[in-house]
Amino acid sequence: MKNIFKISYLIILLLAGTCQSNAAEKVELLKTDWSFKGLFGKFDRGSLQRGYQVYTEVCSSCHSMKYLSYRNLFEPGGPEFSEDQAKAIAANFEVTDGPNSDGEMFIRPAKLSDKFVMPFANVKAAQAANGGAYPPDMSVLAKARSGGVDYIYSVLLGYEDPPNGVTLDDGVYYNKYMYGNNIKMSEPLSDNLIEYRDGTIASKEQMAKDVTTFLMWTAEPHLETRHKMGFKAILYLIILTILVYFSMKKIWSRIESEV
Ligand code: HEC
Repeated sequence: MKNIFKISYLIILLLAGTCQSNAAEKVELLKTDWSFKGLFGKFDRGSLQRGYQVYTEVCSSCHSMKYLSYRNLFEPGGPEFSEDQAKAIAANFEVTDGPNSDGEMFIRPAKLSDKFVMPFANVKAAQAANGGAYPPDMSVLAKARSGGVDYIYSVLLGYEDPPNGVTLDDGVYYNKYMYGNNIKMSEPLSDNLIEYRDGTIASKEQMAKDVTTFLMWTAEPHLETRHKMGFKAILYLIILTILVYFSMKKIWSRIESEV
């Protein structure tokens, strides 16, 4: 019996040891002060609007956003562009519609009800244009990856020269935070790559933060409502606890005084 205890003790120690060494090897993700974190967290509208600009001007040539429609851009809780702005944004894109009365497909400007236009016709076309790698759809990427927003932010800022002795194939880049450190996406951001409409200086860090904030919203469009509900639920529970406490006092008061 004693031996069983000894053996299990050793196994636990061993497991604890391996967990620790794993933790030591894992690279710490970069962190920044996200406006949407915490119980009262809300999206920074300016950041969401700038993030949309970064997505459209930089990422959307490779990454699709299949669950988003142009009308989402003016709905509450998101970037909250005005309806006219959202209409103007949609009108910049072309979609294939039809068939018309002649049985032919035709091209028209996108409307609010249209989904975001895809950069490639299908997965194969996307892979063919990207050296065999598929640029993942971005709608829910922030929720689909462990590390979430911190991971995306870190990948965007994690490009480095490969360490001595590491050679990379053509079209493969070294990234400190990507799984296996190899990524088939060239560094998408560089300082002043775009010109922000609101005059914010477009540093690499700023663009990474804005576009990641935008990706958090596309992955969880109801985050603000959820936070509000959470706060209300906690308030309700606090009030309930106080009421229960005082009614308990009242119910037991007679018995206590009798004792
Ligand atoms: C030229 C095409 C191209 C552009 C532009 C581009 N990407 Fe990528 N991206 C890719 C490809 C291809 C992959 C897949 C890489 C791989 O699997 O090695 C990728 C992968 C990623 C990943 C890693 C996803 C994962 O699987 O963990 C993130 C995050 C990402 N891109 C974000 C962005 C953001 C944000 C932008 C815009 C600022 C952007 N990308 C612009 C082609 C592109």
